[in-house]
Amino acid sequence: METEIINIEKSGPDGSLSAKDLEALKHCGEIIKEGGLVAFPTETVYGLGGDALNPESSKKIYAAKGRPSDNPLIVHIAEWGDIKKIAADIPVEAKMLADTFWPGPLTMILKKADIVPMETTGGLDTVAVRYPSDIVAQELIKAAGGYVAAPSANISGRPSPTQAKYVIEDMDGRICAIIDGGEGEIGLESTIVDLTVNPPQVLRPGFITNEMLGSVLGTEVETDKAILDADSGLKPRAPGMKYRHYAPKGDLTIVEGESSEVVNKINELLAADRAAGFKTGVMACDENEKLYDADVVMLTGPKGDQKAAAHRLYTILRSFDDEDVVRIYSESFAKDGFGAAIMNRLLKAAGHKLIKC
Ligand code: TXA
Ligand code: MG
Repeated sequence: METEIINIEKSGPDGSLSAKDLEALKHCGEIIKEGGLVAFPTETVYGLGGDALNPESSKKIYAAKGRPSDNPLIVHIAEWGDIKKIAADIPVEAKMLADTFWPGPLTMILKKADIVPMETTGGLDTVAVRYPSDIVAQELIKAAGGYVAAPSANISGRPSPTQAKYVIEDMDGRICAIIDGGEGEIGLESTIVDLTVNPPQVLRPGFITNEMLGSVLGTEVETDKAILDADSGLKPRAPGMKYRHYAPKGDLTIVEGESSEVVNKINELLAADRAAGFKTGVMACDENEKLYDADVVMLTGPKGDQKAAAHRLYTILRSFDDEDVVRIYSESFAKDGFGAAIMNRLLKAAGHKLIKC
């Protein structure tokens, strides 16, 4: 299949969509309506979109990603009122969270309506719903009829794409079109909150933290215990969280501890790897750039800047692949606030290999 690459230039006033952009997005919407797949930007990561109400489209999404079909898809909408058609029960908490965080990087799990095919929800009787803030995503969803199922637009297991060039790397030839709308602002997938349980529970941490959710809902919001402790033996409630994920091709290990000890430990490991003939890489904060003796050092931003680190994480993991790095070491991040999401993805990318010094 020949994949169309469509550039959205946002050349209208203040970076808004031009008439030409809107025309191109209409065309992409038609492709989705006819059962085709189109990758598109969001404020988190690129999504691989198909008609959420068409079971054949969902099957195509699983095939294009090489994704197990028990791993449900998120349905993207572009207007609050549209939730009524796909959710059987809309608790008051959903409206409260939507008023504060939508459009934005928050996905809510609700009881599904019959119209949503089991192919889209991976056989579950619940549906994941998200209203993204990216204007390209919004216009595409509207043009596609209002309901777009979209997982991250990577081959299953690889880091989620934050730029169109990585979508092209994974999806060229597998889908009808890829919309290049630049780089997403956030860089990590949306927070998933399950509203079918009381109190609501976070199934995947993201930019919207438990504290932010709790302050709107007036109750403490906890994270699914299975994803906080990989050794717990519990099954994650978001099926996708059980798979090894976000992984670069090289072997990644996280080193945690006091800064100077981390630097010493990583340099010791690098020396051994180099002696063995491996190409080496390090992911470090800006301040530590010069301290490592590695072939490639990738910077996450100023120490403690969680937004910068999240924004760069997947690009850095993909860049190590671009450079054919075989052994990768990463400094660790604080787990407070948005850091919970960063460490969740980093630990999964490392297959939970963590050295404590
Ligand atoms: O930011 C995002 O959420 C991106 C962009 C494209 O919107 N999408 C994304 O989709 O990350 P995906 O498919 O890569 O991750 C969706 C996660 C999976 O872990 C899946 O198991 C979980 O959401 N999920 C979807 N529906 C669910 C449901 N009904 N119950 C529990 N977990 C669900
Ligand atoms: Mg994904």
